[in-house]
Amino acid sequence: MSDLKKIKDEYLSKLNGKLNLLELNKIKSELFGKNGLVSSQFKKIGSIAESERKKFASDLNVIKDELQNLIEFKLDEIQNVEINKKLEKEKIDVTLPERNFVRGKIHPVSQTIDEISSIFSEIGFSIEEGPDVENEYNNFTALNTPDNHPARDMHDTFYLDEKKERLLRTHTSPVQIRTMLNDKPPFKIIAPGRTYRSDSDQTHSPMFHQVEGLHIDNGINMGHLKGCLNYFIKEFFEVKKIKMRFRPSHFPFTEPSAEVDIGYEMKNGKIIIGEGDQWLEILGCGMVHPNVLKNVKVDPTKFQGYAFGIGIDRLAMLKYGINDLRSFFDCDYRWLNHYGFDPLDVPTNYRGLSR
Ligand code: DAH
Repeated sequence: MSDLKKIKDEYLSKLNGKLNLLELNKIKSELFGKNGLVSSQFKKIGSIAESERKKFASDLNVIKDELQNLIEFKLDEIQNVEINKKLEKEKIDVTLPERNFVRGKIHPVSQTIDEISSIFSEIGFSIEEGPDVENEYNNFTALNTPDNHPARDMHDTFYLDEKKERLLRTHTSPVQIRTMLNDKPPFKIIAPGRTYRSDSDQTHSPMFHQVEGLHIDNGINMGHLKGCLNYFIKEFFEVKKIKMRFRPSHFPFTEPSAEVDIGYEMKNGKIIIGEGDQWLEILGCGMVHPNVLKNVKVDPTKFQGYAFGIGIDRLAMLKYGINDLRSFFDCDYRWLNHYGFDPLDVPTNYRGLSR
């Protein structure tokens, strides 16, 4: 019997037996591996007498195809058996209890920033951002607060170098400067973000949040400022009427400057915004000082406008009845679970940024 016939008979009978994947792979490499039986027959072709060579090669190819097809077939068969076995075992048990999962909550400060942004977007303000690490020029000098100005002492500044050139911004007002240096008037922006001062007690935290507002155009006056703030406060606290007063104040970057108080009263231990004869300070504002406009190459004889700075944490505390500012930043999961907002259960007054 020729070698070829021997190989064929032997391996056909092996392949027709019961095999597992390991055994099948072994057979495959015995036949077709580098020095496998079939591979070596191919190497022999050159040394076979010319008269027999053609037939030998053709027989060899037939046998090779036959064995290869059988191996493929067996491989499919084994894999199907495996898959079926797995499927048998993996039946879904619909009676099993669901796995526990914890859904995160939106922090009241983030929620408040979203609400503020959506209210101002509706009346044409766009949203700007600036970095927490600022330079001294944007944070003070450009805002008409030169080196020896006493207002600098009011901000307990965290300086980042000995020359006092870099600092953690003490307010969001430097975003006014960045915005105006970057573009041409008119400007109508708000800029919410983190701010820093070296101060800590029940109503102060070294990191807190402000939202800056800036509206510069032809002929903007204090009436526009009043109207805008009045609208915002009513929308934010969801009240129809609001008692509001402008108290004269001083900020280097505005002239005239004012602080705004809103009226409130306590009823059954709850704070009611917009009524009563108590006053609560919530923001600083004014008409942008001509020096600030000059510093950002805006002509104050052509353009003017107002600016304001609101403490966000204060607003969140008032609206959501939180009485210690420090709890905002304690990262206490139980606290967040209580005061946070379910991302899928959006409060009725929430309009979303896109509306
Ligand atoms: N930057 C001021 C502060 O942090 C708040 C402020 C007051 C901002 C008046 C303004 C403004 O834009 O016009 O206390």
